[in-house]
Amino acid sequence: MRDFGSFGAVLTGSLMAALLSTSVAAKEDMSKWIRPDKVPAPKNNQITPERIELGKFLYFDTRLSRDNTVSCATCHNPSLGWSDGQPKAIGVEGRQGPRNSPTVLNTAYQRHQFWDGRAKSLEEQALGPIQADVEMDMDLDKLVERLNGIKGYRELFEKAYPGEGITKDTIAKAIATFERTVVSTEAPFDRYAKGDENAISENAKKGFALFTGKGKCNNCHDGFNFTDGSFHNLGLGDSDIGRYKLKKRAAWFHAFKTPTLRDVTLTAPYFHDGSIKTLEEATAVCGNGGRFPNSKNLSPLVVDRGLTPDEIRLIVDFLKTLEGEPMNITAPSKFPH
Ligand code: HEC
Ligand code: HEC
Repeated sequence: MRDFGSFGAVLTGSLMAALLSTSVAAKEDMSKWIRPDKVPAPKNNQITPERIELGKFLYFDTRLSRDNTVSCATCHNPSLGWSDGQPKAIGVEGRQGPRNSPTVLNTAYQRHQFWDGRAKSLEEQALGPIQADVEMDMDLDKLVERLNGIKGYRELFEKAYPGEGITKDTIAKAIATFERTVVSTEAPFDRYAKGDENAISENAKKGFALFTGKGKCNNCHDGFNFTDGSFHNLGLGDSDIGRYKLKKRAAWFHAFKTPTLRDVTLTAPYFHDGSIKTLEEATAVCGNGGRFPNSKNLSPLVVDRGLTPDEIRLIVDFLKTLEGEPMNITAPSKFPH
């Protein structure tokens, strides 16, 4: 026979515990929105000051491109939210690429790099743009040769990766290490999440409630970096098939990675094709059923939530509270020679 007596006692006990811990639980829930202190790095490429210093030079150095005109910072510019303000990226000789430059901010925390997730690590990602003909158009063997000819770099590589020399590998590792320092700074929303009720406006608070409530934005934009790291088809109606090019799964048809919303105020225009100019428009497309709601294989999470223009404005008020304090990283004024 079931012992209803003790069942009841357990129930009362857990109810009591739940009631007692409500305030604590509320705080715990908010902690998932706060950036973890530790930046993840692979075992074979731990973060050191020497690697950061070297990676920073490489990141800003136009000599990594074939004609010495383009650096990583051309398209991922610290003063443009680590993006470029263009709908689609522009590389050597003004060549336009097929996609919008995403921010480099918080890429350290991402499981997949690129809009379609085709690179797993920052190390793997870094060599892509150097070789891409619409970006830096540089042959990697030539780059290794070029950097080997620069005494300053030979010394910096030796300090950062003793005995490993200047190779494709150490170039990628150094750049990745620098990128791991490009992490979001404290934003008003973080102070709010830590309990400072006055850190954001009443409207922004309402916007956050809509973001996690009626708008269900956190179905995809979840956690401190406001991304689930997954891929979704928002029915934009362009010809880019996204992740489907890598994996022929119906769910990946026209699917793109959920971008971070940290510092999103700084990175217009938006979406993988740069087709969206404002945060209001982005919110409406994401929250009210996609651009073309009848698109084939639209993500089942893209639902018309019936957000009104007023509600959209409140959500945007909240998104603005994700802009962190200015970052303490500036381009080097002198390069190794
Ligand atoms: C000509 C502009 C351009 C240059 C130069 C460039 N990038 Fe990019 N970057 C892009 C574009 C466009 C994408 C997205 C491409 C895609 O998803 O197919 C991207 C994607 C990335 C990503 C992935 C971000 C994410 O959220 O998925 C990282 C990291 C990155 N670039 C770092 C770098 C580094 C490091 C360099 C220099 C070695 C560099 N980029 C040079 C335009 C550029
Ligand atoms: C189904 C998952 C999903 C939901 C739900 C969702 N988004 Fe998105 N969001 C995405 C994806 C994926 C992109 C990029 C799409 C692309 O480029 O094709 C995006 C892009 C954005 C962008 C542009 C960011 C940039 O850097 O390009 C903003 C802003 C945004 N979403 C806000 C919101 C808001 C606000 C809500 C709730 C009303 C919301 N999203 C709901 C997946 C989602």
